[in-house]
Amino acid sequence: MKAAVLYEPGGVPRYEDFPDPVPADGEVVIDVKAVAVENVDKAIAAGTHYVSAEYPLIPAFDGIGALPDGTLVGFGNIRPPYGALAEKSVVPLGSYVPIPDGVEPAVAAVLASAITAMSMKTAAGFTPGETVLVQGATGVAGRLAVKVARLLGAGRIVATGRDDVQLREIRALGADEVINTAVSDDDLARAYLDAKGDGYDVVLDYLWGRPSEILLRALTPTSFAFGTPTRVVQIGESAGPALTVAASSLRTSGVEICGAAKGLDPRTMDEAYRQIVTWTRSGELTFDVERVPLSDIESAWRRTDLKGRRLVVTP
Ligand SMILES: NC(=O)c1ccc[n+]([C@@H]2O[C@H](COP(=O)([O-])OP(=O)(O)OC[C@H]3O[C@@H](n4cnc5c(N)ncnc54)[C@H](OP(=O)(O)O)[C@@H]3O)[C@@H](O)[C@H]2O)c1
Repeated sequence: MKAAVLYEPGGVPRYEDFPDPVPADGEVVIDVKAVAVENVDKAIAAGTHYVSAEYPLIPAFDGIGALPDGTLVGFGNIRPPYGALAEKSVVPLGSYVPIPDGVEPAVAAVLASAITAMSMKTAAGFTPGETVLVQGATGVAGRLAVKVARLLGAGRIVATGRDDVQLREIRALGADEVINTAVSDDDLARAYLDAKGDGYDVVLDYLWGRPSEILLRALTPTSFAFGTPTRVVQIGESAGPALTVAASSLRTSGVEICGAAKGLDPRTMDEAYRQIVTWTRSGELTFDVERVPLSDIESAWRRTDLKGRRLVVTP
């Protein structure tokens, strides 16, 4: 079969022949249809993710494909060195879920990025009318978060990015206010305060690092007045893996920080998934995908011009 084969950490996968997977007892071969290439796949391939890897390997840990009987599924838990970026993959029996009718494979491959935005409900207990701040709204997941916040009935949506052209697009998607983070620390702190209105109820944080450190500092009150509680959901780390939190910014501001996995169990996960699928089928939620054939993996892997579109490889 043809596959994207990676020979060393930090390398670029090559489009090559690779032995077909032979299923062991309890395994099934998947005919791969669509694979979203995400930051986490790049991080694993770069050797910077906590998941260990041995080379050569086929990158991407999940995808959309067909079972031998033709059923379309989302699959994961792939047996190394196989990955999703190939014509075929191999997983334990049951390591897949059916793709709902009416959702094409390339879109199904991106649903997970929208489901993270549902953490505003599952992790932060969002209720309609609340103000949502999306940190990192120009990325794929951040754009979807702005759309999901609108669909869930946010009262106000504030969105951050570092490029004015893209931030205009984010306004068109439904953000009421946008903040460019590519300014001095003091100016950014002021922008967060100017845009907060009655306060940010929920922050969906795809950035972490410098912008979120400045946000938390800006939310520290300067008086003993009661602050408006802000629930920060940690989802991504595009701007940095760590930040410094002053004790006073938690003690006095009412800021609560939790991870996107908070509140997830089979029931809440299923509800979040079903909601995203319902909006997708009805056309209320749209996905910007850039489809490329597997044979173009080398150039596609290097692309930095996607600007909020998800790269989806279709073998
Ligand atoms: N937990 C989950 O299930 C889950 C799911 C999806 C994503 N994520 C995480 O969420 C984050 C975003 O993912 P994505 O797929 O949306 O990525 P993406 O499409 O590559 O977008 C990255 C975003 O971060 C911004 N950014 C990158 N470096 C920055 C920096 N140094 N300072 C400020 N902004 C910066 C980008 O701005 P520009 O547009 O200006 O480049 C863009 O808005 C990643 O950390 C990803 O791993 C987590």
